Amino acid sequence: MEPLPVIFDCDPGKDDSLALFVALALPHVIDVLGITTVAGNVPVEHSSHNARRIVEAAGRHDIPVYPGCARPLLRHAVTAVDVHGTDGMGGSGLPDAEHPVEDFHAVEALAGFLEEASTPLTIAAIGPLTNIALLISLRPDLVPAIGQLVVMGGARKGGNVTRNAEFNIFADPHAARIVLAGKVPATIVPLDVTRRILPPQEWFDAMEGYGEPGRAVAAMWRESPVALHDVTVTGLLAWPELYSLEACSVDVVWNDTGTLGRTVFSGEDGPLSVVKRVDQRRLADRVVEAMETYVASP
Ligand code: RIB
Ligand code: CA
Repeated sequence: MEPLPVIFDCDPGKDDSLALFVALALPHVIDVLGITTVAGNVPVEHSSHNARRIVEAAGRHDIPVYPGCARPLLRHAVTAVDVHGTDGMGGSGLPDAEHPVEDFHAVEALAGFLEEASTPLTIAAIGPLTNIALLISLRPDLVPAIGQLVVMGGARKGGNVTRNAEFNIFADPHAARIVLAGKVPATIVPLDVTRRILPPQEWFDAMEGYGEPGRAVAAMWRESPVALHDVTVTGLLAWPELYSLEACSVDVVWNDTGTLGRTVFSGEDGPLSVVKRVDQRRLADRVVEAMETYVASP
């Protein structure tokens, strides 16, 4: 079977880095065409630098990195440096990147990939949805070229950045409202599913032996553990048999400061899909197996 062509739009970010390392370790399953970055966990300068550090550590110098929006559409910028560290990959030990950053803006790059695509493309959005909202607003003609948009974001109940909201949505609720309005074929991987995926200590002990990516992941999680939010998106692309989904609609609260960024899921016949469950144990095993491919790397 041909590998699935995918563009990752991200804000690395510790858990973004694991999502990317796993995707980059599976070229026979996922063909990463490029990485676009956005302000989120850290300012876009850091998320772009980190994306370059990640492709370099993975030995994938063939992957272009395109910097994107430096701020949300309307609200003031928020970060998660308390979770991810000042540079966004606290404790990784990865060297500064030498991998070049591309001249095109992320939104231009996304439009270019979609224009050139011979089949509808997959976009994995694992940060705030600012780039994606601008893409579909600027180029609505390209929406049919999006085969699927897989979003890590939202929560059926509760939140992590406030008691009502999950970070990626909270960081740009206006963008999320545009993207999740139903015109784009989106599949949502919500916080309810991802927050429960906390790997055991032996998981990280194994990682130590998996080259520079494995060492970086073990070191980052040792500094401060993060639930496996974003790699759950990579897992859905690589091993969909581990997931159960259902149809839904999503409303995003954009105009109430008390519940800003809250996602209200409804309707079993909605235009979107949402992950209900994932086989966590098998997902964690597959992630370790994928990371093991770096064992041969320096
Ligand atoms: O709420 C978790 C999400 O917010 C993840 O994508 C994490 O990287 C942060 O961006
Ligand atoms: Ca992220």
